[in-house]
Amino acid sequence: MTLKVAIIGYGYWGPKLARNIQNSNNFDIKFIIDTSINNLNKAKKNFPLCQFYKDYRKLNSKKVDLVVISTPTKTHFKMANHFLNKTNVLIEKPLALKLNDVVKLEKLSLRKKKKLFVDYPFIFSGSIKYLKDIINQKKYGKLLEIESFREQAPIRNDADVVWDLGVHDISILRYLLNTNPKKIKSVKYNTIKTKKKDTAYINLEYKNNLKVFIKNSWISPLKIRLIKFKFQKAIIICDENEPIYKLKVFTKKKLSSIYKLDLPEIDLSEPLFNLINYVSKSIETNKNKIFEKKFNIDVTKVLERI
Ligand SMILES: NC(=O)c1ccc[n+]([C@@H]2O[C@H](COP(=O)([O-])OP(=O)(O)OC[C@H]3O[C@@H](n4cnc5c(N)ncnc54)[C@H](O)[C@@H]3O)[C@@H](O)[C@H]2O)c1
Repeated sequence: MTLKVAIIGYGYWGPKLARNIQNSNNFDIKFIIDTSINNLNKAKKNFPLCQFYKDYRKLNSKKVDLVVISTPTKTHFKMANHFLNKTNVLIEKPLALKLNDVVKLEKLSLRKKKKLFVDYPFIFSGSIKYLKDIINQKKYGKLLEIESFREQAPIRNDADVVWDLGVHDISILRYLLNTNPKKIKSVKYNTIKTKKKDTAYINLEYKNNLKVFIKNSWISPLKIRLIKFKFQKAIIICDENEPIYKLKVFTKKKLSSIYKLDLPEIDLSEPLFNLINYVSKSIETNKNKIFEKKFNIDVTKVLERI
């Protein structure tokens, strides 16, 4: 089965989605839409056989199986609402800027029997999948504490740092723990004169007394994507910036101060490619295991409370 695709938004992230879709055998990119002529010209070089438009409404008369939306966040709700009436949608995180809008989109997707996927790439990474298995099997005992540091990203003017970067942490936590936090405390502020809050310190408490700390900031010379998982019998450090050794498992004997380090073998394929494969399989089998259990609603509830 080859699915006909339209991509809307060919700025920073759109080309990465397009490359991964092109590399999968299950899709055929037919249309690329962007309001910027410059970006459309870039797309033409890479995808000369596509049709190109500036206005997404040109797609109304076309047959497409999947619309991929990678435009600025403030445009998401209107576009997803438009396309879910007739086809499946893969949209960039964050899905929308209000819980109400996310609820409306989820209802529309159910009513129209069209699938809604959100690109939270890290939940499709080999390291997070490995951690999910470790947590489910309780391999290192109870999970006591998680600390996440996510710093540096393009400054946005339509979403604050929590909706832009923190959404990765919240989606990872929802995926790993299958639940939302019971308590939420946070401090958000502007380090520099950005339109939206550029820095956040977040404390969450989940069931079984699991404590989570998250630091998000756009303002950093270094790109940091680091999460520490503290179990009873091990501390696992997950660094998505590492090319190969993304997970480091530290264990130690009681009373010893020296840790032993293990480097587990994990799936290193690009998370976006795994997401694209998930999307094609989901459309083919008519199942959407990850997103059907109110995933997006749960994630957005937490973002709104923070
Ligand atoms: N999943 C991730 O890890 C990840 C990473 C980066 C960005 N994103 C998300 O992707 C989205 C886009 O971010 P970006 O960094 O690529 O932004 P960007 O500004 O670089 O690109 C957006 C593109 O959309 C086009 N556009 C704007 N309005 C349009 C419209 N009405 N119709 C058609 N095209 C339109 C712009 O011309 C631009 O080319 C954001 O929601 C962002 O949060 C996700």
